[in-house]
Amino acid sequence: MHFSEFIAFIDSAQANGKSAPPPNPVETDPSAIIGANVPRIDGPLKTTGTAMYAGDYNFPRMVYAVPVCATIASGKIRSLDASAAEKLPGVLLILHHGNTSGIYRNVPTSGRASENRPPLSDDTISYWGQYVALAVAETFAQANAAAAAVRVTYDADKPNVNLNLSDPMPAIGAPGGPHIASHRGDPDAAFASAPVQIDYTYSTPVETHNPMEMHATTAVWRSPRLTLYESSQGVVNHHGVMAQVLGLEPENLEIISRFIGSGFGGKLFPWPHSALCAVAARKLNRPVKLVVSRKMMFQDVGHRPRTQQRMRLGASHDGKLLSLSQDYLNHTSQLDDIRENCGEATPFLYSTANLRVSSGLVRRNVGTPTPMRGPGAVPGLFAVESAMDELAIKLNMDPVQLRLGLDTLTDEESNKPFSSRHLKECLQVGSEKFGWSKRTPQVGSMRDGDLILGYGVACASWGAGRGPSQCSVTLLPDGTARVTSATQDIGTGTYTVIAQVVSDKTGIPVGKIDVILGDSSLPPGPMSGGSTATASVMPAILDGVDAAVKSMLEIAVHIPNSPFAGQKSEDLALTNGRVHAKGQPDSSGVPYGDLLRMGNLANARGEGKSGANPNAAKYSMHSFGAQFVEVQWDPGIAHLRVSRIVTVIDGGRIINKRTATNQCAGAAVMGVGMALLEETIYDQRNGAPINSNFADYIVPTSADAPVIDVHFLDIPDPLMGSYGARGIGEIGLAGVAPAITSAVYHATGVRVRELPVRIEHLLAASNDRRSL
Ligand code: MOS
Repeated sequence: MHFSEFIAFIDSAQANGKSAPPPNPVETDPSAIIGANVPRIDGPLKTTGTAMYAGDYNFPRMVYAVPVCATIASGKIRSLDASAAEKLPGVLLILHHGNTSGIYRNVPTSGRASENRPPLSDDTISYWGQYVALAVAETFAQANAAAAAVRVTYDADKPNVNLNLSDPMPAIGAPGGPHIASHRGDPDAAFASAPVQIDYTYSTPVETHNPMEMHATTAVWRSPRLTLYESSQGVVNHHGVMAQVLGLEPENLEIISRFIGSGFGGKLFPWPHSALCAVAARKLNRPVKLVVSRKMMFQDVGHRPRTQQRMRLGASHDGKLLSLSQDYLNHTSQLDDIRENCGEATPFLYSTANLRVSSGLVRRNVGTPTPMRGPGAVPGLFAVESAMDELAIKLNMDPVQLRLGLDTLTDEESNKPFSSRHLKECLQVGSEKFGWSKRTPQVGSMRDGDLILGYGVACASWGAGRGPSQCSVTLLPDGTARVTSATQDIGTGTYTVIAQVVSDKTGIPVGKIDVILGDSSLPPGPMSGGSTATASVMPAILDGVDAAVKSMLEIAVHIPNSPFAGQKSEDLALTNGRVHAKGQPDSSGVPYGDLLRMGNLANARGEGKSGANPNAAKYSMHSFGAQFVEVQWDPGIAHLRVSRIVTVIDGGRIINKRTATNQCAGAAVMGVGMALLEETIYDQRNGAPINSNFADYIVPTSADAPVIDVHFLDIPDPLMGSYGARGIGEIGLAGVAPAITSAVYHATGVRVRELPVRIEHLLAASNDRRSL
């Protein structure tokens, strides 16, 4: 899904048909708590093991569900025999395509599910691991045994998991066939006549989301109500989709995701296991728990699709970009048309008069791809920024200087000004912090003892979206406050950021602010996706705080025994938790809790609401960044290590320096994985992801983590709304891999255009050189 579609989706999913109100006009003068290193308020719950994740919930009479996964990737089920499984001890139910008739009520027509058809619909298999049955039993061991005892035979076709996406080339005009995503000028003619040309194809592999917490559903059916404990990045959408699939009245369904062990995009939209678990609970009238296994994580809950991107850059000898084309393909499943928006940042990152981004889809026998951190932009920028580095080398220019010369303050795609773009400063500050001036450009020319050092740089960008959001803010007699919103914290700090905003506006300490999220029955809040949650939720929180304070001041003048009785509420203010006369110090006032108790009142409450960003129509709004990398190459033992990363982010105002730094440092480590380690490998014979475990699918560990310096420019973008914060969840990853491969080239002379960098790439090159 394109980023713009994603934002439109957020809008449609959460606006609930009501038109969005104007943005909150409050001008803020942030106190010290905004931007501070505030520790996560939910940290103690997590470090003490008291935070409840979807699979942690247990209920009386609860039973366990285990899916049965297809062992072919293309074909049909010839026979499915559940009789032996059904006779095993403790077995309560075996669901399969032969007995699911009528079990779902509807296909979703609004909101978004990850697969566009319900599970166990028919006998067709289009990817390895597709669910063909669900075994439910009294214990987890019994359910596992039952799943293993379901006998399935297949009529298998030869699956297509061909890595070469242009074999065959998808037909223009066919569904999913190539389309033009961006176009200006005459890129082909400008390329043909350009004095300096770069024309290479870059590929990125399938990557699998591997959050620490696996997907899970615990379903509790108490007719007519269903509660689903989910690991979800969007409880509101999950609720909307599942209400339709299950045919439940919206008020009879509740989605709970109090804590999420991250998602990286894999948990944005509901996957089939959630519906399966829910229908099992309804059919058996028992609570059912289903935890997706790590192996199933590689098969059944999405991945970043493989991309193949042909980049053509035409330039003048002095480094003007005359033409830029990015013609790319990505694979998708047999079931859905998922476009990886590799041109997310291409049309506006650098100034050029002639540009084309075209996109085509190629069907493979794989599960449906889904957004993964920086969808589109991350693989897209690997191609764009690698090509830029190759251009700099061909021009004999410094890659930082080349980019500085191509900066633009107008989005040449939309002809709109950027709301706030400081890419130049990212490059300059990064150069300074990294020590880029020490770089000598010749390959292999920098040494540290036996090690050869390589330096690389790349730029990054990610959209700055803001969707509708609602919340409720309550001031309580004990001097605490409560905020509720149906958004969720996927580990990134949403609980804490919300508490900071309330504290900033009321002076109530963060420790006395109770933030309640992750429940679809609360006022609808944003999805934790697209790096939009913080920017979306903050204007609503400000609006809610404003409303709660107004209500408190009304109360203050209406309670008969209040010291403010009979005064005008407009003449009062609430500061540092105390109600006082405007113009008088807050120490002269009364704690609001005392006033509530005086009035024998339970609380003062306000509802908050904010809409999508009205400035998005007039301005091009994005975050920017630059990442600088040092690698160490030991040619004696063929050992490559990323030793240093400096990442400079222009993400508007930073609300919480600690959680923001965590995000961008984590993204740097994820970038090491993307560049050097991660690839889901499909068996060409049968379509099975063969490295579907943590022994064979390698992710970086602490030992692989470089020294990371995260720096935020911290320049507010006022057009984002109060505080001027943009999102920072995804941009931290966007330039890391191309900066690493550029550094690898600088150290070794080997340009790796197909990720990940393998030791074979580097060994082959040193062999080549030996034979010269
Ligand atoms: Mo992000 S891929 O929108 O969770």
